[in-house]
Amino acid sequence: MKIIAGNWKMNGSRTALDDMVDSVSRVAGNDLRIMMFVPYTMLRTGNDMVMIGAQNVSKFDTGAHTGDVSAAMVRDTGAVATLVGHSETRDALHDTNADVALRAMHAIDNDLLPIICVGETDIERKTGIGEKVVVHGVRESVPKNAKNGGFIIAYEPRWAIGRGITPTTQEIADMHRIIRDTLIDMGLGDTPILYGASVTAQNVREIINIKNVSGVLIGGASLKKQDFIPIIENVK
Ligand code: 13P
Repeated sequence: MKIIAGNWKMNGSRTALDDMVDSVSRVAGNDLRIMMFVPYTMLRTGNDMVMIGAQNVSKFDTGAHTGDVSAAMVRDTGAVATLVGHSETRDALHDTNADVALRAMHAIDNDLLPIICVGETDIERKTGIGEKVVVHGVRESVPKNAKNGGFIIAYEPRWAIGRGITPTTQEIADMHRIIRDTLIDMGLGDTPILYGASVTAQNVREIINIKNVSGVLIGGASLKKQDFIPIIENVK
């Protein structure tokens, strides 16, 4: 089973999501899991073909945290999943790996499937510490209550996101193998690992066939049906 996840970031509308879910449901196959990560205001129940999730959840349970949204509140909308630790939210909220682990912990406690995002910056890559950053990202962002296969890791090279550039096939394969080895060492070897950054209908087939790539997390190319549907078709 391959996973195709769309991250709408701060784009879209409830009507646009209804339309996308209808269209995606018509083309999705049984061996595909489609997930849409949308702004809080658009959260709702998905269907058998499309899971709907949030883009983040609070690191707190409840209480005086104006503007924050808890995992329980996200689950209450009918949504079933959430991103945590996306590089854009790590930057905006100054999240450490420990903060991301707290968010993922609350997600799991509230029956939300977390996608825990990790990835290295341009500077980290150029100074040769990219792999170390990613391994630490996995070891420290996965919470103690995570079960083998009960969450997803997304590897998103921060230097490639939204820039129309992708690592080479070999670079993706190497990083996914390192993540797989880390997860195995943690006793969590069955966890799916997604690749995300500049995925398009043109490159998805090659990326999805790389060893240890269980699916893709897509930003820009998930916003419009004419971009997203061909991606699904090319993976089927
Ligand atoms: P792009 O596909 O636009 O590079 O974004 C990737 C991403 O951040 C998905 O979460």
